[in-house]
Amino acid sequence: MSRLIVVSNRVAVPEPGRANAAGGLAVAVKAALRERSGIWFGWSGKLSDEPAADPQITKAGNITYAVTDLTPADLQEYYNGFANRVLWPLMHYRVDLAEFSRSDLSGYMRVNKDFAEHISRFLKPDDVVWIHDYHLMPLAKFLRERGHRNKIGFFLHIPFPSLEIIQALPHHREVSGALMHYDLVGLQTENDQHNFGRYLRFLGGRNMQDQNLFEIAGRRLRIDAFPVGIETEAFTRIARRVGRLDFVRDFKKSLADRSLIIGVDRLDYSKGIKERMDAFEHFLAANEDWCGRVTYLQITPKSRSEVREYAEMERATSEKAGSVNGDYGDAIWTPIRYVNRSYARPALAGLYRVARVGLVTPLRDGMNLVAKEYVAAQDAADPGVLVLSQFAGAAFELADGALLVNPHEAEGVAAALKRALEMPLAERRDRYQRMISVIKANDIDHWANDFLSKLSSSDEYVLPTDLSGTPTVVARRSLRATTNSPRI
Ligand code: UDP
Ligand code: G6P
Repeated sequence: MSRLIVVSNRVAVPEPGRANAAGGLAVAVKAALRERSGIWFGWSGKLSDEPAADPQITKAGNITYAVTDLTPADLQEYYNGFANRVLWPLMHYRVDLAEFSRSDLSGYMRVNKDFAEHISRFLKPDDVVWIHDYHLMPLAKFLRERGHRNKIGFFLHIPFPSLEIIQALPHHREVSGALMHYDLVGLQTENDQHNFGRYLRFLGGRNMQDQNLFEIAGRRLRIDAFPVGIETEAFTRIARRVGRLDFVRDFKKSLADRSLIIGVDRLDYSKGIKERMDAFEHFLAANEDWCGRVTYLQITPKSRSEVREYAEMERATSEKAGSVNGDYGDAIWTPIRYVNRSYARPALAGLYRVARVGLVTPLRDGMNLVAKEYVAAQDAADPGVLVLSQFAGAAFELADGALLVNPHEAEGVAAALKRALEMPLAERRDRYQRMISVIKANDIDHWANDFLSKLSSSDEYVLPTDLSGTPTVVARRSLRATTNSPRI
């Protein structure tokens, strides 16, 4: 039987006592793998000067985790540098924040080659490979160069920007252009799919029978939108159950009958957290009657703190929270509870269910699983309201039920907050029903099944014209020599 090999930079290796990795990719991949057996390969999250030739293996349930360390130079050039200071801002439409350097690009290519080298050593001819996210766009090309003709699919968890923006990426043909070496490329929304299709045509791709099938460099590539989902039923069950836990009871008691607005995001400029606090401030300024009667809880685990832009926004966001609390709070009421720690998802489920409003206002987001989790956690008889940015991928599916806002307009978000807090029960139920039916139908299983069945039915890999004898672009670090393939 063919094996499923999942590859991503971040791997949620279960470790006793370690909090869940916050981040939609790890959450989604873990849920998708739960239903099927597979190998999950990626970064261990640790550094070493000389990573071992064989990956470290952990088995838990039906998943085999195979992870490798990065070197300090890899961390700087590949992860902090090219992935998170160039690709992340650019693909979230923040060309102004992208800081390109050739050495970072070289590190990015080197780590992709090292990953290819590792995978190559345990890959069997009928394995199906599913690679995730912007860290690993050229990985299929490096596997192809090593002679692998397997079905290889790629899913991009973040937005694919417009043609004008992607062209601002120096050497984009070697990075995003390398996506042509997959059999199937999945994107979050039709908008991303449209942008990527336009980019492929710009690179010389031609549509075959339909708009999703391309002929490019002498081979075929299918693209499609697969909006990522959550484990809807399980999440609803957990949210219902955790209401009985001391943590949730104590939290409710601490609210003292105040209405709760909740935001849950990694500390990332794409999430618009500071802009959201501005909007909350506008709301308080315009609605004195709500002062003292509403609490905004913002759960924000720190993320990528070594990257300068993240460190800067860390400071700006906590200053903003402090100034709103100073201006509007009093001895018994703190308007914003701003928390820089990560919570396990069952605890989040309990908090979402208590919240009258889920405030999800990213400036740009591939999907945003928090929006879906908030809806799934609601009590159908008395649900809260989702206030959602029009620039989150989730808005494509939830537009009928959420209050859609432009996160750049503080007054508009403030007005939506007021409307959400004062919305009559019948309208809340109606909006909830429209959202939950979508989230149930397109849950994580649907997402994974849909992607993998389209990948399995893709055409046989044909060697493209530009791979016949292409030299390796960047020298590869040689993995410590071993004679045997690792037993995975
Ligand atoms: N998350 C978590 N604990 C936290 C904060 C977030 O487990 O303290 C999870 C959250 O439940 C969600 C994911 O991290 O599943 C965030 O995914 P999302 O798509 O919203 O954003 P991303 O971080 O991937 O950009
Ligand atoms: C987003 C990205 C993921 C990433 C996650 C957390 O969801 O799409 O690829 O894993 O953020 O970020 P981190 O840098 O901590 O892995």
